[in-house]
Amino acid sequence: MTRIIATKPYDDQKPGTSGLRKKVPVFQQENYAENFIQSIFDALDGYKGKTLVLGGDGRFYNREVIQKVLAIAAANGFGKVMVGQGGILSTPAASNVIRKYKAFGGIILSASHNPGGPHEDFGIKYNIDNGGPAPEKITDAIFAKSKTIKEYKIADIGEIDIDRIGTVEAGGMTIEVIDSVKDYAELMESLFDFKALQKLFESGFRMRFDSMHAVTGPYAKEIFEHRLGAAEGTCRNFKPLPDFGRHHPDPNLVHCKHLYDEMMKPDAPDFGAASDGDGDRNLIIGKGIFITPSDSLAMLCANATVAPAYANGLAGIARSMPTSRAADRVAEKLGIGIYETPTGWKFFGNLLDAGKATICGEESAGTGSNHIREKDGLWAVLLWLSILAVRSESVQQVATKHWAEFGRNYYSRHDYEGVDSGRAHALMEELGGKLASLAGTSVRGLKIEKADDFAYHDPVDGSVSEHQGIRVHFEGGSRVVFRLSGTGTEGATLRVYIEHYEPPTGKLDKDTQKALADLIAAADDIAGIARHTGRDKPSVIT
Ligand code: G6P
Ligand code: ZN
Repeated sequence: MTRIIATKPYDDQKPGTSGLRKKVPVFQQENYAENFIQSIFDALDGYKGKTLVLGGDGRFYNREVIQKVLAIAAANGFGKVMVGQGGILSTPAASNVIRKYKAFGGIILSASHNPGGPHEDFGIKYNIDNGGPAPEKITDAIFAKSKTIKEYKIADIGEIDIDRIGTVEAGGMTIEVIDSVKDYAELMESLFDFKALQKLFESGFRMRFDSMHAVTGPYAKEIFEHRLGAAEGTCRNFKPLPDFGRHHPDPNLVHCKHLYDEMMKPDAPDFGAASDGDGDRNLIIGKGIFITPSDSLAMLCANATVAPAYANGLAGIARSMPTSRAADRVAEKLGIGIYETPTGWKFFGNLLDAGKATICGEESAGTGSNHIREKDGLWAVLLWLSILAVRSESVQQVATKHWAEFGRNYYSRHDYEGVDSGRAHALMEELGGKLASLAGTSVRGLKIEKADDFAYHDPVDGSVSEHQGIRVHFEGGSRVVFRLSGTGTEGATLRVYIEHYEPPTGKLDKDTQKALADLIAAADDIAGIARHTGRDKPSVIT
């Protein structure tokens, strides 16, 4: 039986950079999740009888919302829902399932790298039939529906057993519980030379992969230890927990410091990597060397032909605007297109669909390719391993040779988290108001070439996205970018991205923070960071 439940709109269901993210108690308010799920369906057309893919990163509240989506999807007329066993699908795995089974779309329950637990974060995201995050046109429509919603439909289907693989009929809809890992592992096997990687591990290559008690645990175990024969113990923290073991499942140098420390020891393994809550981000650390996500993108692109999937070369490279321009130099050398998009993986979808870009990447630790429409943590690790296997070199050697050939983009991001939202916006507004007057002036001896507010004109569908961050370009190719985070759930987060280019003939082995010290000071002078935020230093430096 289907019931129609009267409800009242909430005014704060605006999807951010990557879906709707709020604290769990917010989602637990009466009809809050139900409203948003119904608003997603209300914003879509033509799904009757079609298939929806459903899964999440296993965080607290995942199971409850899985049941709600099943009941609301049945009442709204979906023909089938394919749900990951136990409600688990990593974000890249969900993207793959949507594409492989030609589903209408998918709902992914995740707050990515944000902590989980009864008082931590939860999220709901809608992906379209290409497997990628819904474009703004759709997320805007969802938000509009959420502001006027009066009722939602729900089928009385009771609690569905999502732990047993198989198919059941409920509320006039088919529910198929699928193996969360199998399709994804097969996809990876089709992209990479698993025999070559098996040989690498047979030769004694040692790796650590830290799943941070989040969703990639079962994927990593299956791929690295079972299919590739990496030693048992290669995978760490591989048991997904609803609260990620009370850690922050964000694979950066702060939250993965233990891995960094291990990789800097004299007897470190050859390769260290980690992924985030929902499995789309990656952290890459070689023995004695951390690779910034921006450099990783450039190095993966420069070497991609080592993997069978990219043996014929890349069509183009895309990066988000704040990502360093290291990849631009690779694209230039390869004679292929380079695209600069706003922050957010959704902006890569059109470029990938149109065949303009093959590999995409972001400074926020996301890298991926046209194999799906999300970034993919394990994919990045497998491509790195392929490079090390084929070149028979260490990460350090690959990086050193890359910089000697292309030059080095010293790069760092400074985050000011939990800043009062009004103050953060005031900073951006003040800065935005003086852009024209900055050009030609000098700060700390650095001459500003131009400054602008980044707007993106999508070359595929012509859509325009404005106010995507403020760029200040200096003479000589250095750059500082200011942007407010679109994923935070508390106050505002100011991100300052600092980049300095050193040509192949320059000094390529400086300490990053030292290499950027003048630019960092200039950034504060230009934007008045301390004055506006009341902070004298960033909360996180990556
Ligand atoms: C999510 C998106 C990424 C994006 C990142 C930026 O992880 O999936 O594509 O780069 O958010 O987050 P921010 O907090 O900087 O808006
Ligand atoms: Zn993520």
